[in-house]
Amino acid sequence: MKSLVPAVDRPPKLVTERLMLRELRDDDAADVARGAGDRRVAKYLTQVPNPYTVAVARRWIAQRVTWWDTGKGATLAIVRRNAPDDVLGTVSLRRTPRDARAELGYWLAAPAWGAGIVSEATRSVVAWGFRDLGLRRIYAEVFAGNRASCRVLEKLGMTLEGLKREHVRKGHTHHDVLLYGLLRTEWKDR
Ligand SMILES: CC(C)(COP(=O)(O)OP(=O)(O)OC[C@H]1O[C@@H](n2cnc3c(N)ncnc32)[C@H](O)[C@@H]1OP(=O)(O)O)[C@@H](O)C(=O)NCCC(=O)NCCS
Repeated sequence: MKSLVPAVDRPPKLVTERLMLRELRDDDAADVARGAGDRRVAKYLTQVPNPYTVAVARRWIAQRVTWWDTGKGATLAIVRRNAPDDVLGTVSLRRTPRDARAELGYWLAAPAWGAGIVSEATRSVVAWGFRDLGLRRIYAEVFAGNRASCRVLEKLGMTLEGLKREHVRKGHTHHDVLLYGLLRTEWKDR
C-alpha cells in the first residue's frame, strides 16, 4: 500500500494492491446514482435521495469536491486500477480540523461486495489520514445490524465506543447507531 505524491492543490490518488482511490469527477455521476441508489446499499446510508437520479448525483459530487477546497476533507472514488473510469463506490474522510479528527464514510456497489474491497480502500484512507492529514482520531457511525460494515471497522482496529439509541430516523424507522473510533496512537500500520 502506498500513496502517490499529492498534487499541490487536489487530493492525492491513493494506490493499493488492486485499487485506486481518486477524486470524484462529474462524469462519475451515473455510476454513483446506480450504486448508491440501489436499495441494498441505500438502506444502510443516512441520507439517500429517492429516486437517485444522475442529476442528483452530479450535485452531490460537485458538493463533495468542494470539501477539499474548504479543508473539510475528501470523498474519493473507489476504482479498480485496471478500470479507472468505473466507480465501484466511494470512501470519505470528513474533517473537523480544530479537533484533528475525521469521520470515515463509505459505500460499495452491491455486485462488488464480499471481496475485501472496502477493507482495502479504508486501510489506505486511514493511513493517509493519520500520516498525511495530521489526524489524531478517525471515527465512524454505523446502523446497528449492519454487520458487514461493523466488520470492516473492526478489521481496521477500531474500538466500539458506544451506541446512540434511536439516533437516526430513516423513513418511519428510528435506528440505533454504533460509534467506532481509532486513535493515531492505536493505529497498527504506523
Ligand atoms: C459495508 C460494505 C461497505 C462492505 O464492503 P465490502 O467490500 O463488501 O467489505 P469487505 O469485503 O472488505 O469486508 C466485509 C466483512 O464483513 C463480513 N460480512 C459480510 N456480511 C456479513 C454479515 N452479514 N455478518 C457478519 N459479517 C459479514 C465479511 O465476511 C468481511 O469480513 P472478513 O474479511 O473477516 O471475512 C458494503 O457492504 C456496503 O457498501 N454496504 C452498504 C452501504 C454501507 O453499509 N455503508 C457503510 C455505512 S456505515
